[in-house]
Amino acid sequence: MKIGIPKEIKNNESRVGMTPAGVFELTKKNHTVYVQSSAGEGSGFFDKNYLEVGAIILPTIEEVYSESEMIVKVKEPIAEEYSLIKKNQIVFTYFHFASSEALTKAMIKSKSICIAYETVEDEEGTLPLLTPMSEVAGRMAIQQGAKYLEKPVKGRGILLGGVPGVTPGKVLILGAGVVGVQAAKMAAGLGAHVTIMDINMKRLRYVNDVLPNHVITAFSSEYSIRQLIKTHDLIVGGVLVKGGKAPKLITKDMLKEMRPGTVVVDVAVDQGGCFETTKPTTHQDPTYIIDDVVHYCVANMPGAVPYTSTIALTNVTLPYILKLANLGWEKACKLDESLNKGLNIVKGEVVYNEINEAFNLN
Ligand SMILES: NC(=O)c1ccc[n+]([C@@H]2O[C@H](COP(=O)([O-])OP(=O)(O)OC[C@H]3O[C@@H](n4cnc5c(N)ncnc54)[C@H](O)[C@@H]3O)[C@@H](O)[C@H]2O)c1
Repeated sequence: MKIGIPKEIKNNESRVGMTPAGVFELTKKNHTVYVQSSAGEGSGFFDKNYLEVGAIILPTIEEVYSESEMIVKVKEPIAEEYSLIKKNQIVFTYFHFASSEALTKAMIKSKSICIAYETVEDEEGTLPLLTPMSEVAGRMAIQQGAKYLEKPVKGRGILLGGVPGVTPGKVLILGAGVVGVQAAKMAAGLGAHVTIMDINMKRLRYVNDVLPNHVITAFSSEYSIRQLIKTHDLIVGGVLVKGGKAPKLITKDMLKEMRPGTVVVDVAVDQGGCFETTKPTTHQDPTYIIDDVVHYCVANMPGAVPYTSTIALTNVTLPYILKLANLGWEKACKLDESLNKGLNIVKGEVVYNEINEAFNLN
């Protein structure tokens, strides 16, 4: 199959859809891989790295789209890319159709085969192509939170790990899912005092089993959150309710209960956030302060570490890409139920119910 890797053109996106390691696996199976010149530079992969493993470098995005039977990328196509997508072309990427009617209509019109990373679902009901980005964001939440606890950026002036003779900082994590557990692991590694909360006892039992003893689990309730925020220095929001908006676990009035310089990192900002005072920020201007509480609410945290994020993402997408390339989309989706769940729009027809519901397309 002819596979194309265009350069991402969405603002501030430095990730790329495939690493040289992925190209190596495809060329080994006699597939042809077209990579747009400089597509991987933002992630630390250069044209010569792709050439070494048999890729063909094409100078323009137009050529990549016109030569390829399958396009593999990271972000949803933006308006400039709509007209480049061809009839019967497979496009394998994050789409998040339900949040854009314009994109949905453009992809219906293109008659392409749109397979969305975010709806590929395994037997346990988890989303394997979303998990790595939650892992990155969870770990980053502590790295960023620790930085903003410093005094020059209006934090409490606390070193999370403490030093001999000085007690460590206290971290409160809301949600013991992928984000929460990775955040807890990082905070515990720094030597911080960590409390992690969830309403799912299975998750709390899991945390209790796998994380060190100084990570304390607590059942999430408004009462206990109100108590704990008074004494914690860094609060991380990693709550998700599948198919719904995140609940507002920290309301505006609660900020007054926190000590000045407390840092709140709302990783769930991309689903509306779990703090009432959350509003999305960017890596250029990541924080704002309300009632002396520093808010960090960057909606695409993994974008700041494209090297790690690209490798983490392509590790999990590659097995699916190989299946699609080796078998063609119809056979691959028939044989692999997880991949089949990724089918969103096929040759002009929406095959994923939530998209129809979002825009009343039926
Ligand atoms: N900002 C970013 O760059 C970024 C990156 C990746 C993921 N995210 C977001 O982070 C959020 C968490 O993702 P995840 O992969 O960890 O989800 P997940 O489903 O693995 O975990 C969410 C957890 O929240 C728990 N929860 C639900 N209601 C709760 C409540 N009232 N109190 C405490 N816990 C509660 C659930 O039981 C679950 O364990 C999602 O909104 C996701 O979109 C953001």
